[in-house]
Amino acid sequence: MFKFLLLRLSQYSKVMTREKKIEIIKKTEVFKNLSYEDFRQIAEVSKELNFKKGEIIFEENSNADGFYIICNGEVEILKKVEDTEQNEILAVKRDGDVFGEMAIIDDLPRSATIKAKTDITLLKLSRDIFNELLKSFSHIALEIARNVCSTVRSTNINYIRDLEKRNKQLKTAYQKLKKTQNELIQAEKLSLVGKFASLIIHDIKNPMSNIKAYAELISMNYPNDPKTNKSTNIIVKEVERLNNMASELLEFSRGDMQLNKTPVNISAFISTMIDIVKEDLKNKDIIISFNDNIDSIVLVDIERMKRVFLNLITNSADALLTGGKISIKLNDEDNWIKWSIQDNGFGMEEETLNRIFEPFFSYNKKGGTGLGMTIVKNIIEKHSGHIKCASKKNHGTKFEIFLPKA
Ligand SMILES: Nc1ncnc2c1ncn2[C@@H]1O[C@H](COP(=O)(O)OP(=O)(O)OP(=O)(O)O)[C@@H](O)[C@H]1O
Ligand SMILES: [Mg+2]
Repeated sequence: MFKFLLLRLSQYSKVMTREKKIEIIKKTEVFKNLSYEDFRQIAEVSKELNFKKGEIIFEENSNADGFYIICNGEVEILKKVEDTEQNEILAVKRDGDVFGEMAIIDDLPRSATIKAKTDITLLKLSRDIFNELLKSFSHIALEIARNVCSTVRSTNINYIRDLEKRNKQLKTAYQKLKKTQNELIQAEKLSLVGKFASLIIHDIKNPMSNIKAYAELISMNYPNDPKTNKSTNIIVKEVERLNNMASELLEFSRGDMQLNKTPVNISAFISTMIDIVKEDLKNKDIIISFNDNIDSIVLVDIERMKRVFLNLITNSADALLTGGKISIKLNDEDNWIKWSIQDNGFGMEEETLNRIFEPFFSYNKKGGTGLGMTIVKNIIEKHSGHIKCASKKNHGTKFEIFLPKA
């Protein structure tokens, strides 16, 4: 029955001893139950092949000329991903596994590429010999069928995994797209709001300055009248608040901001700013502390940084009841200056925390524009820095600003 096979003996190299080949074939699942004589004959007609790691054993779509047994090493079964230059790894086969049977059985080109994952030694049976073996031994055919089924199964599993992975990627891409679309719509709305705001604010600022000036004048005319003084103080404070809100709206409506950067000692800057707000905070029974361990220079637009400071301090103060604390720290972190502002105020729920940098988002406040944190973030990012916020309801809030060192 095996004469046909023996005719081909001369074609094959013989680096590996026949006994070694027999030992390998014997251990191969598809050839179990054969006699020693059968093993011997298969060993005779098998050809030893050696490949280096990374070498291609055969290409997808090439003609099927043989069947392979892995003696030692590993191969990857690769399939081209449609419309790309990339390959998907369908399976990995190793010592004792076989491959290359599918295209011989269905008489079609190779359905995948086989690449050596490590240096590898193979035994190859030619297409004709393999077909002869299938015809001669029904249990080999059965084992080969099993092998094909298992390959198809593992391929399916990999495809499903891949599909799931792609689904996830698509979902993420869709969410990103949705977010960008929302941002674009928002930007479109804002640019309109901005145009109107800048026109109106410009005209509002003058009468506001007049109101403030007259309130101060009244106060000067009645220096010993506490009732009048209290009222004029409120007028001045409220006008200042309106002025502040107007400046925020103007800043925001201008869109792209141009920075006027100068080297600043960040410690000195914060100390000066604390001096400005100290009195006001004291009146609200709020203690502010400053702990700096550094002496670093940053390149910043001072007016913009003042706005950052005031926005953060105002937000903290708004979140504090009497006896509140605000603690400011500066730390050196590699190429960054970390500036943290922590309060022990009423904090935020996660839902609020996730939205604080959204324009016009204001929560639990009377008269806030909801632009403070948006402006802070814009300014920090314009300085090539970033800002993080952590907060816990009823425990307080901590902002961390990272600014690049000069
Ligand atoms: N330190 C903080 N503690 C608790 N909540 C805060 C804190 N900082 C910000 N928030 C929340 O984030 C929201 C958005 O802040 P943001 O400064 O942008 O707007 P605002 O303070 O409401 O108004 P304004 O634009 O006038 O500053 C606030 O309304 C508040 O709910
Ligand atoms: Mg604010």
